[in-house]
Amino acid sequence: MNFVAIETSCDETSIALFSDNHLKYHTVYSQIPFHTRYGGVVPEIASRKHSEEISKIISDAKVKDISAVGFTRGPGLKGSLLIGKIAAHTISNYFNAKLIGINHLEGHLLSTEIDNDKIVKKLRFPLISLIASGGHSELWYVSGYGRYKLIGETRDDACGEAFDKVAKVMKLGYPGGPIIDKLSRQSVKTELKFTVPDVMDSYDYSFSGIKTQVAYYVRNLKKISKKKKIEIASAFEEAICLSLIKKLELAAIKYKVNDVVVCGGVSANSRLRELLLDKFNKIGIRVSLPDKRYTSDNAAMIGACMLRRFELGKFKNSVKLDPDLKIGSWI
Ligand code: KG4
Ligand code: ZN
Repeated sequence: MNFVAIETSCDETSIALFSDNHLKYHTVYSQIPFHTRYGGVVPEIASRKHSEEISKIISDAKVKDISAVGFTRGPGLKGSLLIGKIAAHTISNYFNAKLIGINHLEGHLLSTEIDNDKIVKKLRFPLISLIASGGHSELWYVSGYGRYKLIGETRDDACGEAFDKVAKVMKLGYPGGPIIDKLSRQSVKTELKFTVPDVMDSYDYSFSGIKTQVAYYVRNLKKISKKKKIEIASAFEEAICLSLIKKLELAAIKYKVNDVVVCGGVSANSRLRELLLDKFNKIGIRVSLPDKRYTSDNAAMIGACMLRRFELGKFKNSVKLDPDLKIGSWI
């Protein structure tokens, strides 16, 4: 079975072609250079760039003989999602192929199953998944494909958002996550510490406080040297990573799972990966992470999710866009 997946939820325009579980073609066009100067994604620019690029990436993909087309129906930016949906709708009409709406966050979870150019059954259930991206910081108990229960989420900013805002305060550029990651790796000795307040008696997160702490700290510095930037970046990154891991560990213990999965843009973070492996190895819990190239938004992960739905033959075939779409069970 040949099928196509399209992802346009934020600032990446991406298409993937599959033949069964083989990823035959994949391209991601990133709009980052067009948003950098604004320090974040500008929705109007995002939808315009999607509409400029989408025909080109579809034509380059040389789509043929397909029986299904999937696209991200949410969560994401309304105008960006709409471009993907229109494109998918057009392809589906042209090829008389089934049209399928996919949840972007489920895509992130399933990105863990992309092994080079194949989708491989890797997830072992039950598991706890931390989805850590620019818009979400959520902990899910996952008992099987399509079986979800939300157990924690951020009360304010998402962790990726905190990376982006802190980078903006330090005038480092956008997106902040990869820049802070790179800076922190040049580690210098520092006593500097930032803290993430604990949301007591829950698996929820809160990242807006640390962003404000860093902003005040930076504001009080007359000049900010390269060394100081490295110190701030690594102290901030360390605090965020420890907070993400702490709740994940508590949830894994409470729900007695042997597996945890961390996915979404922030799961590319080197320090987070290092700390996760270290912590969970010690307590005998297996950690799965997507290959780094599939951590940020891409269409291959949308295709990975489509594939699991086909296999189970159970999907609510909703194609309605929903910018605030929540993960919901489909089994
Ligand atoms: O999943 P994603 O590509 O898009 C959303 O669905 O939001 O995540 C983007 C977020 C951005 O906030 C970006 O700064 C963050 O992921 N990010 C990182 C790293 N790479 C991307 N955060 C920390 N370390 C990284 N290496
Ligand atoms: Zn994403």
